[in-house]
Amino acid sequence: MTANQSTLDYLPTDLDSSRLPKHVAVIMDGNGRWAKNRGMPRIMGHRRGVDVLKDLLRCCQDWGIPALTAYAFSTENWGRPIEEVDFLMTLFERVLRRELEEMRQKDVQIKFVGNLSALPSSLRAEIDRSVSLTAENKGIRFTVATNYGGREEILQACREIASQVKSGKIQVEEIDEALFSSHLYTAHVCDPDLLIRTSGEMRISNFLLWQLAYAEFYITQTLWPDFSRSEFHQALLAYQKRDRRFGKV
Ligand code: IPE
Ligand code: IPE
Ligand code: MG
Repeated sequence: MTANQSTLDYLPTDLDSSRLPKHVAVIMDGNGRWAKNRGMPRIMGHRRGVDVLKDLLRCCQDWGIPALTAYAFSTENWGRPIEEVDFLMTLFERVLRRELEEMRQKDVQIKFVGNLSALPSSLRAEIDRSVSLTAENKGIRFTVATNYGGREEILQACREIASQVKSGKIQVEEIDEALFSSHLYTAHVCDPDLLIRTSGEMRISNFLLWQLAYAEFYITQTLWPDFSRSEFHQALLAYQKRDRRFGKV
């Protein structure tokens, strides 16, 4: 993100600070196409995408949005060529190591959601370190979905709840939405108010299936490596124009 950045350091005056989303989720899509359009290997798009995410995180802090969740790697992304998967795992690890100190200082609390046990052990070690070193931070909740699948998340919640019923810890009648949510990977954060997907795809690709029940969707043709503060501004303007009825009239 570079365009208009200096003028967008503060919340744009046409946005209502009292009606900002409390949680923004992003499906960062289009890295491969961005690179291909430039005659570069797909991985260059992923590399550039990291810088964009970093600025979006900063932007949320600058503008007073308390939670950001980013989809970094889905349970389906293992099906990509091994070179790309390896590159991504190494990239995640390197970026975490590089950015941890700054996140700690800037009051970012980082969390990861997904099946982390299947990730390379060196990446898991960086994840554990970054989570524990930022656990007390209060500035923004930054959640990274890594080896994340919405269906897998729901299944693991079912398994946990079923075993608690089996052991007598809870009764079947106690299973309600709040209890179910507390068994999801995202128990630490409220449901997203706004979902942004870049690159024009009209699907949620197994992201936050339960949590997005009443999120507003903003889909842009812009490819993730080109996503800028001014585009985020447009997304928030669109969000503030929506009439969120939650099923009422
Ligand atoms: C999103 O960009 C990043 C990840 C899924 C890791 P893509 O890699 O899906 O880029 P496109 O959709 O192929 O252009
Ligand atoms: C969704 O993008 C996953 C991430 C952004 C991490 P994909 O590119 O994997 O999704 P599909 O294949 O277009 O549905
Ligand atoms: Mg894609």
